This record gives sequence, C-alpha cells and structure tokens, in this order.
Amino acid sequence: MSEKHAVRAEGLEKRYGDKRALDGFDLAVREGTVHGLLGPNGAGKTTAVRILSTLVRLDGGRAEVAGLDVARRARDVRARIGLTGQYAAVDEVLTGRQNLEMFGRLFHLGGRRARARVVELLERFDLTDAADLGVGKYSGGMRRRLDLAASMILAPSVLFLDEPTTGLDPRSRGEVWESVRALVADGTTVLLTTQYLEEADRLASRITVIDQGRTIADDTPDGLKNLVGGDRIEVVVADRAELPSVVKTVARVCEGEPETDEEGLRVHAPVTDRVPALTEVARTLQDEGVAVEDIGLRRPSLDDVFLRLTGHRTSARAADPSEPSEPTEPAEKEEVVAA
Ligand SMILES: Nc1ncnc2c1ncn2[C@@H]1O[C@H](COP(=O)(O)OP(=O)(O)OP(=O)(O)O)[C@@H](O)[C@H]1O
Ligand SMILES: [Mg+2]
Repeated sequence: MSEKHAVRAEGLEKRYGDKRALDGFDLAVREGTVHGLLGPNGAGKTTAVRILSTLVRLDGGRAEVAGLDVARRARDVRARIGLTGQYAAVDEVLTGRQNLEMFGRLFHLGGRRARARVVELLERFDLTDAADLGVGKYSGGMRRRLDLAASMILAPSVLFLDEPTTGLDPRSRGEVWESVRALVADGTTVLLTTQYLEEADRLASRITVIDQGRTIADDTPDGLKNLVGGDRIEVVVADRAELPSVVKTVARVCEGEPETDEEGLRVHAPVTDRVPALTEVARTLQDEGVAVEDIGLRRPSLDDVFLRLTGHRTSARAADPSEPSEPTEPAEKEEVVAA
C-alpha cells in the first residue's frame, strides 16, 4: 500500500440482514487532499465512513487509515482521526466554548491544554465572538463549524465529514467550505461525503461515486463534469408547438446537440459561453415571439452523473421508508433571465 494514501479501502463489504450496505466498495484517498464521496440517499456513504472510523466492523474486504488496518489497529486508527457525523453532535444548552471543552475532556486533554486548544479552535473556525453564547442561538452554519472544531480537538491527520452541509443555506454552506479548505491547508486529509456534485466540485480534488454500496466512478471533478457534458442551457415553453423553433435557436447558439424532453416541454443543450449564450437565446426567442415559461443555466447535478453512469436517475430507485428523509439537491437553476 502506498504511503501517499491516507485512506485506502478494497472490496469493503457490510451487510445488515439481507441488505448489502457495502458490496465491494473501493476507495483511495491521497494524503493532504479533500476527497469527495458522492452518492444518493442510502448509497452506503455513512456506512463507509463508520467502517473507516472504526465505529462498525466490516464483513469483508480490507481498509487502512493513516497506514493502519482498521480491523486490527482500531485503537491506533482512532487516535489519528476526527469524525463529524451526519447529525450535529453538539449540546444545545452549553455554549460553544463549553461544548469544545467537554470534547477536550472526552479525549483526555488536561484542563489547561483543553482550554488553550479550545481558544485556538474558536479562532480558527471564526467562533470567538459567539464562544460564550448558548449553541441554541447558533445558526446552522455556526453549529456545523462548531462540529468541525469538535472533531479537530486532537488535530487529527484524517478527518471524516459526513454530509457537513446538508440542510444548510448557501451562505452557511460557503462558511463550512472555507473552514474545510483551511484545514486542508494545514495538512489534514479530508474525506467528505455529499449528495451534491457542486460541493464535491468546489472542495475535492478527486471524487468517488458510490451507488448501492459499490464504487461506480472515481475521477477528478472535471472528469465527472465532462462525462455529463458540463453546464447546460435549458428552455421550457408553454406550448408544445413551439419546441421546434426553440430547438433551432438553441442549436444555433449552443455548441452541443440540443435534447428535447417532449413531456416536460423542455429543450436543453451544453454551453461553454454560459451567460452570452443564455442572453442570445433569450433575445432571439423573444424576437420570434416564442412564449417561454422558463429559461436558465443548469450546472450538472449528481442526478445527471447518475443518469450517465447507471442509466437511471437517483430518485428512480424506491426510497427506503425506514430511512430519515434528507433534503434533495438544492435548486440547480443558477441564473434566470426574463425572456
Ligand atoms: N444500522 C443499520 N441497520 C440496517 N440497515 C442499515 C443500517 N445502516 C445502514 N443501513 C442500510 O444500508 C444502506 C446504506 O446506508 P447508509 O446510511 O450508509 O447510506 P448513505 O449513503 O449514508 O445515505 P444518506 O445519504 O441517506 O445518509 C441503506 O439501505 C440503509 O438503509
Ligand atoms: Mg449518510
């Protein structure tokens, strides 16, 4: 196994009764990078993180974290990792500072060392001003940052972040991204699970896509985006009879072949010159008197990647009713102009 990998998993298997949560999962995370683990609800992301962070035992395959076998050296692995779970672990009643000091005691840091480390972490995660406020008063983004700080108490060399921004507003999401970047700049390796292609794209230098407990792709963000053809222009019309003229306009302005979704009254095509192309399409359609319901730019989503890799959409599979439902991908439409 190469030294340059902070995390490495081969053929991981985990069964819960008849359910194969992991079914031959492979992963290799280079040291000092953010690696994205991208997949829809129930794909096996949390299970993978739990195995790698020694919280559950694997049924098959092997995994190393920081060069140590997770099954045989669990205790040593634990001393080198941090984990921020999918659901916030901080206490609402305590202040931010008290929460962190509590984690310090949990990890057997002496009182003075814990307090000093907490001051450092509050500063690093931009929480100094809010340090003595009850966490009940924190915004979602502040809570997540506090979570990150808590998992950094021991300055781990590998940090597992399980969907750190699911359910956050765009601003809080941006704040968490900033904190993650700062950690990596300091040398921590981060494995980040997410359902958002955009998030993996912003943070990760490499992305593993997981579906039904198996690795279905491992690529750079650009590689994945190229697979689905990058950004697209999308036009929705009010009347089916308008579709052919929209196709003609879109074909003229955009680089790629337009695709028509007859049922959704939708035409879409790949673009590189995003905003000029959008403006041009909108203006032409307006000049031609085409009644446009909606027009905009869409970045590729996890769903697009899935469709391309597996031939089905992430939502096509029956949802497991026993699972907590998570918010779906946030609105993908990025810029919308009135036509
Ligand atoms: N403790 C458990 N007992 C039974 N089944 C489980 C358990 N943990 C996970 N599973 C099942 O294993 C599969 C993978 O679950 P996992 O939580 O790893 O997915 P995930 O990718 O983290 O999903 P999400 O995006 O919803 O968090 C799911 O079908 C889930 O229902
Ligand atoms: Mg999960």
